[in-house]
Amino acid sequence: MSYSTENTLLYVNDLSVAYGDKTVIKDINFVEKDVIREGSITGQVIAFVGRSGRGKSTLFKAMTGLIKPTTGKILIADTATESENDAKEVREGDIGFVDQKYTLFRNKTVYQALLFALRKKEMSKEEKHDIIMSYLADWGLEKAKDQYPCELSGGQRQRTAVIEQILCSGHYMVLDEPFSGLDVGNIEDVKNAFNLITSTHEFNTIIYSTHDIELAVELADSIYVIGYPTIDGKLGDYGTIVKHVDMKELDLAWKDFGLDHIEVVKQIKATMLNS
Ligand SMILES: Nc1ncnc2c1ncn2[C@@H]1O[C@H](COP(=O)(O)OP(=O)(O)OP(=O)(O)O)[C@@H](O)[C@H]1O
Ligand SMILES: [Mg+2]
Repeated sequence: MSYSTENTLLYVNDLSVAYGDKTVIKDINFVEKDVIREGSITGQVIAFVGRSGRGKSTLFKAMTGLIKPTTGKILIADTATESENDAKEVREGDIGFVDQKYTLFRNKTVYQALLFALRKKEMSKEEKHDIIMSYLADWGLEKAKDQYPCELSGGQRQRTAVIEQILCSGHYMVLDEPFSGLDVGNIEDVKNAFNLITSTHEFNTIIYSTHDIELAVELADSIYVIGYPTIDGKLGDYGTIVKHVDMKELDLAWKDFGLDHIEVVKQIKATMLNS
């Protein structure tokens, strides 16, 4: 499928992060641009995969401004100015983040949490109510509406956290393992939410991590493998990008999962095993 790219939406240069004096990720460099396809609004879907402990969550926390990198720069498009190619350094709050633990407000019910997520939107109370109720219905959370986080199942908590970010995010959204622990129906809900988000605005960009390589290859148009690099025949002890698969270039993006996708899955798994 033909496409072109325009404005840079995400620019990560020479990023490294340490906890104390232990460097966890290093030499992270990548650029993601706005993908343009004629006749459709095409948001960006970017997946990060890699074995446990290689630094995916750490990278996400740095990208969303939750932790300060040791070195490097993270720039996102400054869409507030509406002029092209304006970039700004990411700050906490610029990018919506659903963390792996699906942290919710302990003292807010599902409904109250979603209402809070809409606090900055200029809408009437009734409009907000209608939006929240339609999400709750679509995502099977109607019955959980007035429950507190401690009264929710893991999947319910996760879906609430995802909706919360959909409601309050700007163009960027980072989801750390949004598919883990979901049943088949819930996985479809999250997939549909991805579609909805990316078909709403050109700049909308979803960045997610997953241990399900098939779900990375099926949904993403750009996939990064985070792993330990091999240096002089030895495995390093910090995470970095060990492989980038551009599904657009391979002509596999925005297509149904088929045999060619399975081949990519195999290659990614092989890379992961050696990193
Ligand atoms: N707050 C912290 N303090 C110290 N070390 C940490 C902290 N958080 C993570 N680490 C370490 O950093 C490394 C990367 O962790 P991270 O959570 O980023 O990995 P991950 O790729 O997200 O793993 P998983 O797939 O299991 O979620 C691990 O070795 C981990 O032990
Ligand atoms: Mg993680």
